[in-house]
Amino acid sequence: MNTGLCRVSGRPLVKTVNFGLHPLGNGFLSADDFSGEYFFPMEIGFCEASMMVQLINQPAPEKMFHNKYAFYSSTSQFMGQHFCDFANEVMRSRYLSKINPFVVELGCNDGIMLKNFATAGIRHLGIEPSQNVADVANTMGVRTLSKFFSESVAEQIVKAEGQADAFLAANVMCHIPDIHGVVKGIRTLLKPAGVVIFEDPYLGDIIEKTSYDQIYDEHVFLFSAHSIEYLFNLYGMELIDVISQKTHGGSMRYVLANKGVYPVSSSVGRLMGKEKALGLHQIATFEKFRIAVERSRKELCSLLTDLKLKGKRVAGYAATSKSTTILNYCGIGPELIEYISDTTPMKQGKFTPGMHIPVKSHANFLENPPDYAVLFAWNHAEEIMDKEKNFTDKGGKWIVHIPSVRVLE
Ligand code: TYD
Repeated sequence: MNTGLCRVSGRPLVKTVNFGLHPLGNGFLSADDFSGEYFFPMEIGFCEASMMVQLINQPAPEKMFHNKYAFYSSTSQFMGQHFCDFANEVMRSRYLSKINPFVVELGCNDGIMLKNFATAGIRHLGIEPSQNVADVANTMGVRTLSKFFSESVAEQIVKAEGQADAFLAANVMCHIPDIHGVVKGIRTLLKPAGVVIFEDPYLGDIIEKTSYDQIYDEHVFLFSAHSIEYLFNLYGMELIDVISQKTHGGSMRYVLANKGVYPVSSSVGRLMGKEKALGLHQIATFEKFRIAVERSRKELCSLLTDLKLKGKRVAGYAATSKSTTILNYCGIGPELIEYISDTTPMKQGKFTPGMHIPVKSHANFLENPPDYAVLFAWNHAEEIMDKEKNFTDKGGKWIVHIPSVRVLE
């Protein structure tokens, strides 16, 4: 839907970067479906009141999150460890009641985080609209409802199970256009001293690294501490802590509670100051971002074209949603990238959204390695480099595009 208005403040958005027509980031498809493929105009806007950066248009949620959702969280060992640590930090925190605590996670996917609460015997509930991934969570012993979260779902939960001590979410809040509905649901669901702890890709990292591949249909918002504080302040809540994370190429964990219930950590003021220095509250910053994005596109296209002219074989490594933005914005198709290797069975044998590059298994990458591999999962670089020593030892080269386009030596 496009009203041209900020989803948080209701004020007009200032248009910043226009990426043109884009398909769904996770819309991997068969050749039979090419002709009916869905595209939407992908453009971001900035609100000078709420300081929220957001997509101007977003496809309907049912188009993106359904029973064939192609993203399973448990594809990376690093992420498994990250969510185990996240769960342990919450379990050790002062926020959970001593007696019979209750934790709710929004968008629990295949249960990658909540399984740690399940194992510890802590009362928990996952809410996950994509039925296929919710089924995996339930099979693993993670109690999961397959629904879109709303105030009325929150009321049903409270009626059945009582109010929660903590409301958790990871890489989910930024997906939800009706963010007011979610915050209202949170207010209903939480005990008066309950906390919201959530993390999402961080606008500060996106600006600093020109990681524009975080912008795709699912990410309706690119959050900063400024915009989160503005939003939750409308509901009498405040930021009490912020903790930066390495995940997704740079994320921020926000901890919020009703005003005055907990002391505010000094980390909040420090981050606010850093954001001001980076200009995240000013429109001029996004004009500079647009120029940096255009430069990145030019450099990646010319590197891949040069390699093609030299007769080199190039493949992609990991068919991430992020890669959908890069490939479509840069206009890179199978003529430049022969195939993309990915470990997700549901993506293999399909084609990438929009540019239709074949997605092949990891076994194919091992048996048929290219001269160059574009690291589309640059956020998992350490884990992948470790795993693919053999490729590098045999002379295979890596291309990375974040924070700048280059061949790793
Ligand atoms: P992620 O960065 O979480 O993707 P997204 O941009 O969609 O958020 O990476 C997950 C994808 O990368 C998933 O399709 C599996 C693939 N992948 C591999 O193929 N091999 C790997 O070693 C890793 C870590 C991921």
